[in-house]
Amino acid sequence: MPSYDYNAQQFHIASRGNISTDLLPGIFPADRANWDREPHFLGWPAHLQRLHATITEASDRLIAGLEATLDEPESSAQELMGLTGMNRLGRDLVAHVHGHHAFEDHNVLPGFLSRFPQLSTAIDLLENDHQVLDQALDHAEEVFSILQGQKTSKSQIGKAQQQAKLLDKILNRHTYDEEDILIPAVLHAYG
Ligand SMILES: [Fe+2]
Ligand SMILES: [Fe+2]
Repeated sequence: MPSYDYNAQQFHIASRGNISTDLLPGIFPADRANWDREPHFLGWPAHLQRLHATITEASDRLIAGLEATLDEPESSAQELMGLTGMNRLGRDLVAHVHGHHAFEDHNVLPGFLSRFPQLSTAIDLLENDHQVLDQALDHAEEVFSILQGQKTSKSQIGKAQQQAKLLDKILNRHTYDEEDILIPAVLHAYG
């Protein structure tokens, strides 16, 4: 396998492309087009995808809401922030994703590692992703907490929008790759 260094460009969450069996030997090939034909897809794999879809939808809603507010003049933007609860939506997203990662770190990933030792590098990559994501979430929480309804300026909303987009990009990369690593293993084991 290529030597594994999480901080190398081909492995790090901020810079890598799609993962593959060449990049992470030991993982099972991800044949997404046929997942829903597998009888065992409807159990835990579909559940994981639903959890991820909930996160993606909340992130999309936050970005769309912040962008719509930025299109308004300064005074209506402030009023909208007071009415729409974007601050709350951002902080709820942060808390939700922190909880999701913590459950995976303590329950899901150790379980996969003991059942599929060949996934050790891939699981290490997912754990490293969680650390990077948690730092981005902490930063996002600070930025979102400054959005205080009618006291919010458009420049603060712009900063929140930039952080929300950065978070969205790495969240999408992580949830997609996590599915590509974990779901084929389950389908392989029970197929
Ligand atoms: Fe995860
Ligand atoms: Fe996840």
